[in-house]
Amino acid sequence: MTASAALTVRAAAKINLHLGVGRVREDGYHPLETVYQAVSLHDDVRVTPADAWSVRTTTAGHLGDVALPAPGDNIVDRVRDLLAPDRTARVEVAKAIPVAGGMAGGSADAAAALLALDRLWDLGLTEDRRLDLAARLGSDVPFALVGGTALGTGRGEVVTPLEDRGTWSWVVVPDAGGLSTPAVYRRFDELFPDAPTTPPPTDRLRAALVTGDPRALAGALHNDLEPAALDLRPDLAALLERGVAEGALRGLVSGSGPTCVFLCTDPESAAAVAAGLVGVRSRVLTATGPVSGAHVLQPDRGPRAEED
Ligand code: C5P
Repeated sequence: MTASAALTVRAAAKINLHLGVGRVREDGYHPLETVYQAVSLHDDVRVTPADAWSVRTTTAGHLGDVALPAPGDNIVDRVRDLLAPDRTARVEVAKAIPVAGGMAGGSADAAAALLALDRLWDLGLTEDRRLDLAARLGSDVPFALVGGTALGTGRGEVVTPLEDRGTWSWVVVPDAGGLSTPAVYRRFDELFPDAPTTPPPTDRLRAALVTGDPRALAGALHNDLEPAALDLRPDLAALLERGVAEGALRGLVSGSGPTCVFLCTDPESAAAVAAGLVGVRSRVLTATGPVSGAHVLQPDRGPRAEED
């Protein structure tokens, strides 16, 4: 790999199939037992050799009007600070993952930028070193590198791939409102001051994954942050019910929300549920999982403005 060629790295959104949250630790983070799944909504990060450092972000139409970070305050700037603060590149981030939505869009951008700048600048980082740097950028960033379906422990940053025999069909309903992850965790602390120090385990969910049966998975989906997200956004409860009424097996707040996801039996059912929800929310997407973690697109085709 030469240090001069432009390249694009693609990174996926995540859904937490199981998000077990324990009582807040002394460092302010919560211990997690989570099962992540990477799904087919992607952000692309393109890096090009340049004499100055610049980061430009574009958003897919389905994201609507979203607030983006101020120049210099992007997670991509933090990636550069960690890797090589004096080096330069032109970085273009094409976002299709809901912003502040509980699907780790910012973490996907961080993972993609880490891989892309490592390659562009020919830094030769080992996989372990990339994972270590990723954990410093955010709890979900290591998973965005690994992808697939994986167990997350610690504060979510310790990632172990899991056996998953399914190809799962999802409906994804983004929400223009956005929810702050720290605010949702704070509400969790208020609602559950006696939460156990050890979070609820993932055994049931992991057993469902190896059946490959959507009904088994639907029965095992679990999100300890859902009550806190619904407390901050009570209107989401009706959306979750409506998705099931339209034929989904189960609705779930994605991570800290406010994106809601619906597991369906197959892609046809997901398309029907999505069509049924279009009258309820303006933007309704479908996705499948698991998909791979951050990877270089071959051949380089540049970032696209819209989701595939
Ligand atoms: O790790 P990351 O920077 O993505 O976390 C953002 C915020 O989410 C943290 O500052 C914290 O408030 C909350 N968080 C948490 N416990 C976790 C992960 C995140 O409380 N395991």
